Amino acid sequence: MTNDLENRAIAILKANDRGGYTVPTAGLYPYQWNWDSAFAALGFATFDRDRAWREIETLFDGQWEDGMVPHIIFRKNDPGYFPGPDIWGSRTEPPTSGHSQPPVVASVARWLVETGGREDERRAHEMFPKLMAWHEWWHCYRDPDETGLVGIVHPWESGRDNCPDWDIGMNNIVVPDDLGTYHRRDTDWVDPSERPTQETYDRYLTIVKFGRECGWDHDIVVREGPFFMADPCVQFVLMRADRDLMALAERFDDARARGRIADWVARDEAGAQAMWSDEACGFVATDLRTGSKSPAITNASMLAFYGGAGTEEQRAEMVRHAREILDGCRYVFPSWDPRHEGFEQRRYWRGPVWSVMNWMMAAGFERHGLADLAMRVRRDTLAMVRQSGFFEYFDPLTGEGLGGPNFTWTAAIHLALVSEHGAAEVA
Ligand code: GLC
Repeated sequence: MTNDLENRAIAILKANDRGGYTVPTAGLYPYQWNWDSAFAALGFATFDRDRAWREIETLFDGQWEDGMVPHIIFRKNDPGYFPGPDIWGSRTEPPTSGHSQPPVVASVARWLVETGGREDERRAHEMFPKLMAWHEWWHCYRDPDETGLVGIVHPWESGRDNCPDWDIGMNNIVVPDDLGTYHRRDTDWVDPSERPTQETYDRYLTIVKFGRECGWDHDIVVREGPFFMADPCVQFVLMRADRDLMALAERFDDARARGRIADWVARDEAGAQAMWSDEACGFVATDLRTGSKSPAITNASMLAFYGGAGTEEQRAEMVRHAREILDGCRYVFPSWDPRHEGFEQRRYWRGPVWSVMNWMMAAGFERHGLADLAMRVRRDTLAMVRQSGFFEYFDPLTGEGLGGPNFTWTAAIHLALVSEHGAAEVA
């Protein structure tokens, strides 16, 4: 039974392979996505390490001269997807979107090196300057005042597109009269009740229009753009990835890089503290224009453990939240606190569970000696797949699979979990 599932997961990765890179799922997402490729590499590594490296090497084909690794790479035009390359207007080759996504790659590269051999080390070494440039981009362009807290310019940059976290920033966006009409494609593939509303979509496109019209000048988008918020997912993923990059710098004996990364690591914790909310009693998304804080705990808040953020007291509060939320859900970890208003068990990032978030979260729990929480999260991740298949995300109350089917990262995380922990251990 388990073997059969593993074979299906491998078949999904192969079927979504477009020659050196994978699409997240055929139809709904027909291009290469940034953090999807990082997680895909974890899955490939369980049966084809060369292909795992190819997945992240091809992602860096899209890296901009200033170091940014964009969230989508448009290798060939696909009319089935909106907004495509013309709407983004990146004026790069290959065409890409105009902002980034959570920087998981350095952590995956370290993982490949530490679980692999000489060839993994060689490829990581080759990629190292590109990773440094990307992290530099985050710390420089997304934190121009050197506060330690990086911002995102679009909810899509968080990877948690439709989370209520963004409502406080999105509600301030005024949709211009000349936005124009457009045909959304996502709702051609997936039930509209599981996708963002039309009003939300207009605001997404307002940000893209602003970026396109200023030539995706990062300074202008950050200082004057319609949206600038701090995201616990990006911040904690970057914190973790900075440390993983440091481990690589030490391995490669690169003193200059070590010095640079040490500065970033020192600043990261101060940034994390700026997301602490006394009202929510946890780390939450923060609007960097107004200072407002999102009211509830999410699966991204729980990545504090993965990033290594917070004081002992703060982490104790986070554990308390985790246990309460765990008690209230059949499957964890939900993307919005079910104890809070706004929870929608089926709608995209407003309640459902994602395997990739769980994978990072479980690693963080384990690192902090919370083995029971790590085990529960891993077990649920496998159980939902066993019950429903390799869907994009899952209903936390029923385990039903939602969004796109045959999803690359869900298959990849399944393979990574089984290979790291053994199916029996987490069954
Ligand atoms: C959605 C998700 C994002 C992901 C993309 C492709 O936009 O919110 O995190 O990268 O789909 O899977």
